[in-house]
Amino acid sequence: GIVYLNGEFVPASEAKVSVFDRGFLFGDSVYEVIPFYRGVGFRLEQHLKRLRHSLSALRIPLEKEWQGVLDELVRRNGGGNVSVYLQITRGNAGRRTPVYDEHMTPTVFACCSPIRDIYAAGADNIAGIRVIVTTDLRWHRCDIKANGLLPNILVLQQAREAGADEALMIRDGVLTEGGSSNLFMVSNGVIYTPRLSSEILGGTTRELVLELAREAGIPLQEADLSYEQLLGADEVWISSSTRAVLPVLEVDGQQIGEGGKGPLWLRMYELFRQFHQRLM
Ligand code: PDD
Repeated sequence: GIVYLNGEFVPASEAKVSVFDRGFLFGDSVYEVIPFYRGVGFRLEQHLKRLRHSLSALRIPLEKEWQGVLDELVRRNGGGNVSVYLQITRGNAGRRTPVYDEHMTPTVFACCSPIRDIYAAGADNIAGIRVIVTTDLRWHRCDIKANGLLPNILVLQQAREAGADEALMIRDGVLTEGGSSNLFMVSNGVIYTPRLSSEILGGTTRELVLELAREAGIPLQEADLSYEQLLGADEVWISSSTRAVLPVLEVDGQQIGEGGKGPLWLRMYELFRQFHQRLM
């Protein structure tokens, strides 16, 4: 496919980044994953807002008209349903030194890959998943969408080895989020989710769940949630851009609720679908 690198659209095989790029040497970089359906960015504004937050946390001074770049990238790749990956590193220092010069030119990279339209799929075609719960080994700035993803990769690996699809993480007795998703649970008709802090990523899909729940008058609460509450919940869901909301059927091999996709999950999925249809 065609990728975007530092102002140019080039075939992926021709895109090259220096070995002295700080993204490569130090993970001195941030990213976004943005779904496009029929060539149109979904919740693009929210993703760009979070990107500005990540960039400013790293003090990377970069103002860009992102929408034009990403629309063009998707168009050059034939449009349709794709997930766009956008990464910005602090740039190429020419040598390996942790100290950086404030006037470096950031490296900007974007590519895209096909995804299925989870909203067109229909609830019957969405499979529930299994998760494990494990210790959150990450740093304390998880609100930054940074590329240092080793802890996330290790917990995902742990999930795979246990025959599960995602790992939820827990820190000091409080559930944080999934390796690449946010967490929700339902108890007695109330939706619960961990509150925003620097221990979790402010998911764009999480925000949409909250918006849609509020609009529909479904009670919801942002709170500290324990492992016991999770196991005792009627429903558990995860959310992320490319997966929307997925029902969790099993946590650490133990059945959640009735063991199937819950009624409130189905309602939320339908709310997502309607929201998505209004945009298309
Ligand atoms: N990850 N929490 C973590 C740690 C994440 O990596 C992600 C998304 C989310 C959900 O955020 P959003 O709803 O904005 O996609 C929460 C992306 C998809 C990834 O790394 O591939």
